[in-house]
Amino acid sequence: MSAAREPIGVIGTGYVGLVTAAGFAELGNDVWCVDIDAAKIERLRRGEIPIYEPGLEELLARNETRLHFSTDIADALGHARLLFVAVGTPPTHSGDADLSAVHAVAGAIPASGSTAGEGHALVMKSTVPCGTGAALRRVFGEQGKSGLAYVSCPEFLKEGSAVEDFLHPDRVVVGDEGDWAGDAVVELYRPLGAPFVRTDIASAEMVKLASNAFLATKISFINEIANVCEETGADVVEVARGMGLDERIGQKFLQAGIGYGGSCFPKDVDALKQLAGNSGYHFQLLTAVIEVNELQKRRVIGKLNRHLGGLAGKRVALLGLAFKPNTDDMREASSLVLSARLQADGAHVTAYDPIAEEQARRLVTGIAYAESPMGAVRGADAVVLVTEWGELLALDWKQVAETMAGDLVIDGRNALDPDAVRGAGLVYEGIGRR
Ligand SMILES: NC(=O)c1ccc[n+]([C@@H]2O[C@H](COP(=O)([O-])OP(=O)(O)OC[C@H]3O[C@@H](n4cnc5c(N)ncnc54)[C@H](O)[C@@H]3O)[C@@H](O)[C@H]2O)c1
Repeated sequence: MSAAREPIGVIGTGYVGLVTAAGFAELGNDVWCVDIDAAKIERLRRGEIPIYEPGLEELLARNETRLHFSTDIADALGHARLLFVAVGTPPTHSGDADLSAVHAVAGAIPASGSTAGEGHALVMKSTVPCGTGAALRRVFGEQGKSGLAYVSCPEFLKEGSAVEDFLHPDRVVVGDEGDWAGDAVVELYRPLGAPFVRTDIASAEMVKLASNAFLATKISFINEIANVCEETGADVVEVARGMGLDERIGQKFLQAGIGYGGSCFPKDVDALKQLAGNSGYHFQLLTAVIEVNELQKRRVIGKLNRHLGGLAGKRVALLGLAFKPNTDDMREASSLVLSARLQADGAHVTAYDPIAEEQARRLVTGIAYAESPMGAVRGADAVVLVTEWGELLALDWKQVAETMAGDLVIDGRNALDPDAVRGAGLVYEGIGRR
């Protein structure tokens, strides 16, 4: 069997699992996908894609014959030795990662029989605290599955460009015990031509947590600089450009705005802070990163209040709701805090998002949803750009000005052209901009 075409299992068919499955199918591997959500598996079998991710539908369709969907982990065990685990690890009330789905997968692998742990490996794609691999290895021993190998292979894809990220990763991190399973994972990824970081399990787990914490720190840092810019008359866009051209700093993740959200940064930063705290170490920097982010989501409220002289009875249009463009993911989106705060202060909120409305309706109640950007801004006293969807960046601001009742545009992502907005006779206010 050619290693590059080895059949694999993928447990969990969410954003990470589906993209991983489609990506490996594209590389020529047969992929056995398993999920406990029977409705989702039914949809996937019918060729329906339960999430919005650019390029994913085409990739899944093109590799239809290599992709198999089931609710029974035995199907994956029967066909593949490597089981990629991509189940959710949401935060618990304590801020630790909830590993119950990971443990459920480990528990579902039988201890004996023809499809037993022997000869199989769990390849962890889910983001888990440092030490999870070691703990699972102990559990395997207790459950009579010490033959089950374990590899940490953290995932770095970004929603919105996940397919691209899978096919062109910056690096592939493989943490293992130097056994066959780590070698097999390296062979699977080899056709992508990315550098490998082959290391121990704990270090691989920490690479993921530290990477997300660092990126979140960069965002909170530039947001604080933006806030100081507002006090001092500097423009954060100019400042970030000047900083980012320094190769040691880099341009990415230096866009000031209304804070980070999504299914990863908030929970992973919390989980790392908690992991440190559980070991008796107070991670002061991350405490500040989290607090800055929370305050940043609320900064728009202060700006609206200042311009509108209070929010009670005012009509505010939110353009975009997803936590970032090109995804329908609403988890920890800044729009959740913003819409709740606006309503608490008595504002009437109308929102538009080109893709995330269905997800948003489950989480954001009490607001009106418009079918178009112009529908959202009709009669509004103020417009807030929350998510920088391409469609929203291309708005005709003269038409917006004619449709609104007021004239205030708050650019929560510093993504609009201030001259175009002002040229339409509107008042432009960004985050940390002159
Ligand atoms: N979404 C991202 O951008 C991203 C990026 C990198 C890493 N991660 C990490 O990857 C993991 C998965 O994230 P996601 O966004 O794909 O999650 P998701 O919620 O979209 O998908 C998780 C899937 O796992 C399924 N599942 C839960 N328990 C199961 C079980 N016992 N057996 C089989 N399936 C089960 C769920 O039904 C769901 O379909 C998380 O740990 C996350 O932190 C996510």
